[in-house]
Amino acid sequence: MVPSLMARVLSGIQPSGDVHLGNYVGAIRHWVTDQDSIDSFICIVDLHAISVPQDPAHLRAQTVELAALLLAAGIDPDRSTLFVQSHVHEHAELAWVLNCFTTFGELRRMTQFKEKAQAQAEGSVLVGLFDYPVLQAADILLYQADRVPVGEDQRQHVELTRDIAQRFNHRFGETFVVPEVAIPKVGARIMDLQNPAAKMSKSAESPQGTIGVLDSPEDVSRKVKAAVTDSGRDVVSSPDKPAITNLLTIYSVVTGRNVSDIEGSYEGRGYADLKSDLAEAIILFLSPLQEQYRDISSDPGRLRDSLELGAQKAQKVAGETLHAVYERVGFVPRRR
Ligand code: TRP
Repeated sequence: MVPSLMARVLSGIQPSGDVHLGNYVGAIRHWVTDQDSIDSFICIVDLHAISVPQDPAHLRAQTVELAALLLAAGIDPDRSTLFVQSHVHEHAELAWVLNCFTTFGELRRMTQFKEKAQAQAEGSVLVGLFDYPVLQAADILLYQADRVPVGEDQRQHVELTRDIAQRFNHRFGETFVVPEVAIPKVGARIMDLQNPAAKMSKSAESPQGTIGVLDSPEDVSRKVKAAVTDSGRDVVSSPDKPAITNLLTIYSVVTGRNVSDIEGSYEGRGYADLKSDLAEAIILFLSPLQEQYRDISSDPGRLRDSLELGAQKAQKVAGETLHAVYERVGFVPRRR
């Protein structure tokens, strides 16, 4: 096999909650535009999802919805490898092996675990939640990824992955590529419409502040009109006007116009004009994506074919890595 000269990049995405404008603009769009320059593996992490209680039908629906959305956004199953984590059994298997090279102390220090477990009595915290970062390490190391694009909140998990990879390599010889953390430069930080101090987020307390990429035009209008604003009435982006700044950022992202140009066109006009134009601009921006989504969702067979192709491509790589690992740790190969 000719080794690829393109960097291998592994992205993981949770099939929970609806994809919002911030996810789309901040991450998904880049996966689409970068498809020709990177060897992109995109994993829908349903195994991770069950580390908190899930309704089975809901999980299944969310997984399918996310896959359809990624395809609608322009992920090309031939150029990228888009797959569902549970379709590739190597993830769970490598996680087990890596469990035996990760300490209790390391996992106990993970900030995300501490935050998620905090609210519960220790006796009721699920082991899967504790072990979550090891499964994430398996996701990354199986594909020999050079880079892992994540938000700041996931940096610690990728650093743990590096430690585990180095430890394993040190003990058994070069087995894993030690991945780099890639925190994407935020071109535009999209904040919650109800609370411009917080990032737009799936888990926001008020769904009113989050624009889902599948939101109907009516929902988009309603949410934009209900967005909080700052005192004063000038449409300008400035640190003491976080709400208007956020609306202008979104406006700029969905129209491709720069912020000062937009400010200029609202001189002498108020927030209400800005909001109604912004709502329209968002609706226009989302409409091709929504149309594609409906198209793809109307053909479940084709969607399954795409995921099957992804699983096969992923498994080819994952299988090789797992095989090398099994050999190194001393498992007897099965006769073929
Ligand atoms: N933990 C990541 C998150 O919550 C999701 C994830 C799972 C992931 N496996 C991954 C991200 C591998 C990057 C690489 O966002």
